[in-house]
Amino acid sequence: MAQKLKVVVTAGPTREFVDPVRFLSNPSTGKMGFAVARAAAAAGHAVALVAGPVALKTPKGVRRVDVVSARDMLAAVAREVAAGADVLIATAAVADWRPKRRARQKLKKGEMDGTLALVRNPDILKTVRGVRKVGFAAETRNVLKEAVRKCREKDLELIVANDVTEKGCGFGTDTNRATLVRRDGTVVRLPLLTKLALARRIVREIEI
Ligand code: C5P
Repeated sequence: MAQKLKVVVTAGPTREFVDPVRFLSNPSTGKMGFAVARAAAAAGHAVALVAGPVALKTPKGVRRVDVVSARDMLAAVAREVAAGADVLIATAAVADWRPKRRARQKLKKGEMDGTLALVRNPDILKTVRGVRKVGFAAETRNVLKEAVRKCREKDLELIVANDVTEKGCGFGTDTNRATLVRRDGTVVRLPLLTKLALARRIVREIEI
């Protein structure tokens, strides 16, 4: 077997609470990230899966760390990296914004005037350093161009790009058609695969 790696995988959505009963989020189910964690563990790597709120079972042999918000996810990933992770594979659909204020009590209907002030969340993949990084880019246009830009901007060794408007791709599906873009600029267009098959392909890439 190739060298055993310590792999951190982020998966699922994050939730950004407005008050105790309301939040901003997205439809991510965590399927891609859980498939990556499963494939990496099956290949003999030590896997920490930092998961947002999802309804999936933890894959065999995987250590799972549950988080809620983007800032929680960043803290959990930073801890794993500080503890000696080799590779970070970021599949999570992190909420880009959070409410500027989180009310301690449930807001009454009349307390909202229709404007919700938001602030930017940290970019986990961009912020974390000292680890090999693999990212995902879910796009609706200019897929390749955006992937190349993100690969450079976030200092990734590999980015997995896909057009989420395509049939069989995107949130909640069991399949994905992805294009791999490596740091050296090589592009590998993959056919429509199950998320598990794509996960195995990604794991092989990090073993090189
Ligand atoms: O810039 P964009 O959100 O499209 O980048 C997607 C990649 O960055 C994914 O790998 C995602 O997990 C990661 N990301 C992150 N933290 C964010 C936003 C995205 O780690 N706040």
